[in-house]
Amino acid sequence: MQISTTNVLLWVLGVALLALRHRYDLTITKILSFFGIRKKQLPNYFEIAGVPPPTPLPDFDIDRAKPRPYRPFRWAYHQNMSLKKMEPDWWIELESTYRERVAQRKGLHEKYGKKIINNLPGSELACRELMEMVVQFICIRYPNQFKFDVDTGVLYNEILKTETDTNSVHPLEVLNTNVPEDFLLTMEDPKTGLYKMVAGVSCSSLGWNVGTKIGKPLQEIHGPVPDYKEKMAFSMDRFFSKMPCDKPIQRGSWGLEIGQPMWLQDDDPHFKLRETQLPDLKVEDIYLRVDWQTLRRLPRSRAIVFNFKALFTPMTEFRNEPYIPQLVLKILKEGKQGLMAYKGTWHIEHKAIPALEEWSKEQVQKGWVPEDWQERTLDEDPYYPGWQSK
Ligand code: HEM
Repeated sequence: MQISTTNVLLWVLGVALLALRHRYDLTITKILSFFGIRKKQLPNYFEIAGVPPPTPLPDFDIDRAKPRPYRPFRWAYHQNMSLKKMEPDWWIELESTYRERVAQRKGLHEKYGKKIINNLPGSELACRELMEMVVQFICIRYPNQFKFDVDTGVLYNEILKTETDTNSVHPLEVLNTNVPEDFLLTMEDPKTGLYKMVAGVSCSSLGWNVGTKIGKPLQEIHGPVPDYKEKMAFSMDRFFSKMPCDKPIQRGSWGLEIGQPMWLQDDDPHFKLRETQLPDLKVEDIYLRVDWQTLRRLPRSRAIVFNFKALFTPMTEFRNEPYIPQLVLKILKEGKQGLMAYKGTWHIEHKAIPALEEWSKEQVQKGWVPEDWQERTLDEDPYYPGWQSK
């Protein structure tokens, strides 16, 4: 075997680098970048978007994590955008239903395909960017649960003990199998200037699905929403065209359901339950469903992503939540008919209203709520006084 001068030089350089590495604690990345060779890495989306990274939760325990008790009840109750500034720590909130939800989502995708995940040509970069941003977020927020190998593109999920190759699996499927959250992507239609839905993964839709909304502009997507066209369409379109990357927002939508219906289509027998007031319905079977939503612009593709997750809480918990029974009672009794019909609360009201009346009186007797309290949106919205100690 011939030993060339180049080989000798490379060998000497290698030994010298190894020695220096120990002496000065140099990482491979530092050495490579000294020679102008940069290791593969994700763009720093926090920096480009101008939204700070989340605070890491090194001791996070998924089985004990409870979602924050969102109670987005407003009075007076009009249809408007009701937006709040998104808290950067809470873009993606994982909690104890994680395993059950991911399994449910995988099953729904296998069974219903494009009704759950779909994407139009032209949305590829936005889907990839979204997936990378979410991966970057969860790896920082939940450092013991997720790791991402930038060289191989593999996402390691320590909760489920799975590995996902993000180079070969579609970005929305990467999300569906790791993050139990719905994501709907909109992009500006250059012909109309309006934002339309170009891709999405959704497993928590009631009465619609990704297939029925994809390709449509916001006004059409919101077709069944009462007062949308008259009161919201104009401000929504303007808001979307101007929305900057560094001003993400959050909002909540709510409903009262029998049990915990996650994904329902119009032909599902569960929907028929909305047409009757079951005489033997138990208060314990009524659940608050909150869809907690965030909206943000992606910095590279300029797409806007709307993401949300459905959280269920037994209505009986309201009993120990100051002001909530009285506020919900007001909305059920005096909320605008069209809005309440869209929410479909009638089917539980015969049991919910007497229970809420009883709990409201009880809270006044306990001194939690002043006797003359006039119903209004709480200062703690979307929570209630004392929610932190829940
Ligand atoms: C600032 C942004 C948005 C606001 C204020 C908003 C508002 C609303 C409201 C008020 C409803 C009725 C349910 C409720 O009470 O929440 C609704 C339903 C819905 N929204 Fe939005 N929305 C926004 C963004 C989006 C985006 C970007 C998408 C999709 C890409 C979307 C998709 C839907 C769908 C699919 C429904 C259900 C419609 C149905 O019943 O068929 N929303 N939205």
